[in-house]
Amino acid sequence: MRVGFYQFAPVFGDPAGNTARVREALSALEADLIVLPELFNTGYQFVSEDEARDLAEPIPDGETCAALIDLARERGTHIAAGIAERDGEAIYNACVLVGPEGCVGRYRKLHLFYEEKRWFQPGREPPPVFDVGGVRLGLMICFDWIFPETARMLALQGADILCHPSNLIFTLCHEAMLIRCLENRVFAVTCNRTGRDERKPGETLTYTGGSQVVDPRGRLLVRAGEENPEGQVVEIQPERSRNKDFNEYNHILGDRRVEVYDMINRPAVP
Ligand code: ACM
Repeated sequence: MRVGFYQFAPVFGDPAGNTARVREALSALEADLIVLPELFNTGYQFVSEDEARDLAEPIPDGETCAALIDLARERGTHIAAGIAERDGEAIYNACVLVGPEGCVGRYRKLHLFYEEKRWFQPGREPPPVFDVGGVRLGLMICFDWIFPETARMLALQGADILCHPSNLIFTLCHEAMLIRCLENRVFAVTCNRTGRDERKPGETLTYTGGSQVVDPRGRLLVRAGEENPEGQVVEIQPERSRNKDFNEYNHILGDRRVEVYDMINRPAVP
C-alpha cells in the first residue's frame, strides 16, 4: 500500500484555491492514501467566530468535500483532509475521509488547541476507524497527539494507520508520534502545513512542516522539510500493525492491566 501526504501553506480564506493547489500537487503523486493538513481549505488563524462560521462547510454536502471526492475518483485514492465543518449552529474542526466510493466518514476534533476553543465546538464522539478495502484507517487531528488516549482508542478499534492532519507550530509532536506508533503498534501519517499566518496583530504563527510517516516499531519512514510544499509517498505493509506481540511473553494491548486503570477516568488532582 502506498501512503503519503501533501504539505503546503494554505492561503487563508481561499477554499477553492487551496483545493486547486491540492489537485495540482496530487496529479504528480501515485498513492492509495494521501493525508492533507488540518483546515487545509480555510487556513488556520481565524480572528472571529463569524469568520470561522462563514468559511465552514457541511460534511459531506459542502463544496470542498465534493471536490475531494471528485479528486479521489480521478486519482483512484483515498484522502484524509482537515476541513472546518458547519452543522447547524455548530462549527467543528473536522477531518473527512473520502475515496472513489464517496465520503467514507468524518471525525470532529476532541482536543481543541489554544484559540480554537473560541471558534469551534469540541467533538463528542470517539475518534473513528474505517475499513477501506481491508485496511483500517483511524482519524485524529493535530493536538490530539498530546492525549495518548486518542491513539489508544484508535488502536483498540483495530486501526492500522492513523491519519493525522495537523497545523503544528512546534516539533514536539513529530517526535511524540514515534512513541504513539511504538506503544500502539500502528502506522501514522502526520501531515503538517508550512508557511505562516500573521492575521492577528502581535501574533505570528509559523508552521513547522516536517510531515512524516512512522511505522509500528516507532521508526521514521520519511519526513519532509520544514518550509516548502512537499508531497511524499512510501510503500508500507499495513498488516504489520496487526502483530501486537512485543516478545513471546508480552502483548502490547493484551498485557494492559485494565482492572487497575479505573483512575484514568477520574479528574486529576488539582
Ligand atoms: C493544533 O492542534 N493545531 C496544534
